[in-house]
Amino acid sequence: MMRACVIGNPVSHSKSPLIHRYWLEKYKIPGTYDALAVAPENLEAEVEKLVSQNYSGFNVTIPHKEKIIALCDERDESAKKIGAVNTVVIKDKKLRGLNTDAFGFIENIKTAQPGLKLEGAAALILGAGGAARAAVSGLLDADVQRILIANRTREKAEDIAADFSTNKIEVIDWNARETALGDIDLLANTTALGMKGQPELEISLGNLRGNAAVCDIVYAPLETALLRAAKEKGNKIIPGIGMLLHQARPAFQAWTGTMPEVTPELEKRVLA
Ligand code: ATR
Repeated sequence: MMRACVIGNPVSHSKSPLIHRYWLEKYKIPGTYDALAVAPENLEAEVEKLVSQNYSGFNVTIPHKEKIIALCDERDESAKKIGAVNTVVIKDKKLRGLNTDAFGFIENIKTAQPGLKLEGAAALILGAGGAARAAVSGLLDADVQRILIANRTREKAEDIAADFSTNKIEVIDWNARETALGDIDLLANTTALGMKGQPELEISLGNLRGNAAVCDIVYAPLETALLRAAKEKGNKIIPGIGMLLHQARPAFQAWTGTMPEVTPELEKRVLA
């Protein structure tokens, strides 16, 4: 029996209940998955309740992804590297924090563009928030050769470079993002720019190599202006919806022992 939920504030927009309930049904695993609105001041008390109610675990979303760390008894490598936890597994009353975003980022690329070779590749990451850290972590694990990071606030990109302490990472100015397009195999937008209700990401793809792929973590709209521009130029694209779906898989596996698949039916339901 899997008993899980997502905690956040707000949490009603979360697609996690839909995704995990779909898998419970598909794999005929008894269980529940709910959305629980938790204000920051109630985080510890609410988590204690979940433990006492024998929950298998829970997902964590804004604004708790960093604060939850202090409540975890242990963390996996990914959560340590990224500095945030998005999934908690409860076992013997102990909390283990995971971060499945790097897995989701890389699995999405592998699924959407199976021919793209990450090993030895050069990537440009736009942004320096939690999603950028997950992308960096995943790309380093995939043995890319070079990661350029451009962020409006340069210091935040410098912090990532310092935290991952590898000479594969190079920080460039936000204003140098277009020039850098001539040197990379993969462009990844990890900012919220281009999302419904947010400003557009301003970038001209003129310098982008013909064989480079463009990835967006934004999934509303499904095809962002960035992806559309890349497609029109004839470049390979990797839409953000796949990251949302794939990041959920290791959580479901940790709670049930079954590694679920992302199916066209699941994608259809999430988009509906
Ligand atoms: P998350 O953890 O989900 O990645 P975040 O930490 O809020 O979210 O990061 C949002 C990213 O979008 C940041 O890199 C942010 O740039 P700053 O570090 O300079 O804030 C970027 N971003 C948001 N609005 C932006 C804008 N108008 N122009 C450029 N970058 C922007």
